[in-house]
Amino acid sequence: MAALGAATTPAAAPAAPRGNNRHPRHRVAAPARRSRGGAPARRLELHASVSPAVTADAPDEAAAEPLVEPAPETKLSKLACPICYYPFVSASDPSGDASSLECSTCKKVYPNKQDYWDLTVAVGSTEYSESKPAATEIFRTPLVSFLYERGWRQNFIWGGFPGLEREFEMAKTYLNPTIGGTIVDASCGSGLFSRLFVKSGLYSLVVALDFSENMLKQCNEYVKQENISDERLALVRADISRLPFVNGSIDAVHAGAAIHCWPSPACAVAEISRVLRSGGIFVASTFVADVIPPAIPILRIARPYISQIGGNNTFLSEVELEDLCKACGLVDFKFVRSGFYIMFSATKAS
Ligand SMILES: C[S@@+](CC[C@H](N)C(=O)[O-])C[C@H]1O[C@@H](n2cnc3c(N)ncnc32)[C@H](O)[C@@H]1O
Repeated sequence: MAALGAATTPAAAPAAPRGNNRHPRHRVAAPARRSRGGAPARRLELHASVSPAVTADAPDEAAAEPLVEPAPETKLSKLACPICYYPFVSASDPSGDASSLECSTCKKVYPNKQDYWDLTVAVGSTEYSESKPAATEIFRTPLVSFLYERGWRQNFIWGGFPGLEREFEMAKTYLNPTIGGTIVDASCGSGLFSRLFVKSGLYSLVVALDFSENMLKQCNEYVKQENISDERLALVRADISRLPFVNGSIDAVHAGAAIHCWPSPACAVAEISRVLRSGGIFVASTFVADVIPPAIPILRIARPYISQIGGNNTFLSEVELEDLCKACGLVDFKFVRSGFYIMFSATKAS
């Protein structure tokens, strides 16, 4: 593997400050807070090691009367309506096997599709169907989903990706301050990292999230094959630009090899910043394209057309990635580079 760490090594990020579970319109008491004293055993079991950011909010916030009765804590209670960002009312089935989730505010119902929860905005519409750019659509096919861990992903090594195990170790180093909390493996594909996060036991909840139905089905198959308990794992279909979580409710977001596939990296990073708590960490890897110096204006102008040819893939430079994170309130940018590969972390500003 090419030498990593040329620029910055994945040093520990600053200690996580307090959480920020404020909703745009009113406060929703985080269920985890209630589990601190005298909650039923099962709740404690699931969130026993929830990070300080979720559990250690100021007592006055916990005492504030919510307008929405929060659902009892299950792994589903971390999920929210992607339309209005309010929590669900029917996440109360203790087994986590509810057949649908209903938004506490707009009343939209989201189905349990057996392999995953479909929390896309358009789910349930009968006439409307939306096609995404090729870089998203290609991963929705059964063939690519099947091939993904059977050779496709391994090819990334030619672009400088260090390989799954090394990437996971590096990501863990960056994510260290968020251990014990909830991690979203955004654009998880067939769940190669999601499964490692669950197996590591480092997080109280792992949300494996992708837009591709077939990737999520494939992920579920691997979960079963590998006998991984789904007690701390939720599989969710959602668009990266419309994440189904309450503001400031997530400790960490990991996105392996994905930014270049997102239709709008800006909307996606803004969304990731919205759902992260203060001090929460975003770790991502992608292909970088600073072989095209962004300082040369003509090449900047040409980039969208080049991207169209490449199936709408958006290859950004490390300078652009840092700039985008900063513009979205994610600071303390650190990264490692190897060839066209970059892994970086950024922290949600307090
Ligand atoms: C190259 S794969 C990365 C999979 C995995 N994270 C990894 O490290 O190998 C890119 C993933 O991004 C997902 N994706 C593309 N557009 C998306 C979107 N708009 N919202 C959520 N996921 C998306 C694809 O479905 C695909 O699974």
